[in-house]
Amino acid sequence: MDRIVTIFPKTIYVTQSDEETLLSAKQLVKDFPELWSKSEYFKHKMHQFDVEISQHQHIVDIPAWHKVRKFIEEKKQYWLTHIWNCDPSIRPMITNSWLTATYPGQLHSQHIHPNSFLSAVYYIQVDPEVDYISFEDFPAKIVLLQTTSYNQYNEQIHTIPVKDGDLLIFLSDLYHGVNYVPESKVRPRISLAVNSIPRGDSLNGTYFFWRDDHDNDRPNLAHNITKN
Ligand SMILES: [Fe+2]
Repeated sequence: MDRIVTIFPKTIYVTQSDEETLLSAKQLVKDFPELWSKSEYFKHKMHQFDVEISQHQHIVDIPAWHKVRKFIEEKKQYWLTHIWNCDPSIRPMITNSWLTATYPGQLHSQHIHPNSFLSAVYYIQVDPEVDYISFEDFPAKIVLLQTTSYNQYNEQIHTIPVKDGDLLIFLSDLYHGVNYVPESKVRPRISLAVNSIPRGDSLNGTYFFWRDDHDNDRPNLAHNITKN
């Protein structure tokens, strides 16, 4: 019997937070205007090509972000255990997290997240009418043929519409970007990116990253996080 064998598909886990978590994130963004590298938050448009990134690179380490952090950690754990079929002892360890604001007139071109295994993007303020994230296959196809429709075999770019409260989890080496925010919009698109690496036994039996049985222990990053 003829059959099509599909191998090595790419996976994007799309899930949503509850309303309480989303509302807390919205309030936290408003409460921390000092996070932004330029511009007075919400007060004027940047009119530059690329997005604004928060100077603070460990947002979810801020205690007030606990609810958001817990939600993202739980979903990343689900990804590791039930999508990647990892041993349940393997856990996601968050390394860095930052806020991104895409002002009217800006977009975020295709990029990857270096020095990370599993990335998440949490959408805090978007316009569901126009906003989406796009993923690009890489390396690009050399021969592009005229097709009658797109499917998972011939598409070069795949777009996913987003709305407030959406969380997308994907491998950090997957190219992605977000669309242009129309000049007619008043508010920027706001999202939170969270990188992580797994901690636990690797395939060859050695421990990936380091062995530490305490959930609250954190890596001593440049941010100078103190251990509890
Ligand atoms: Fe990104």
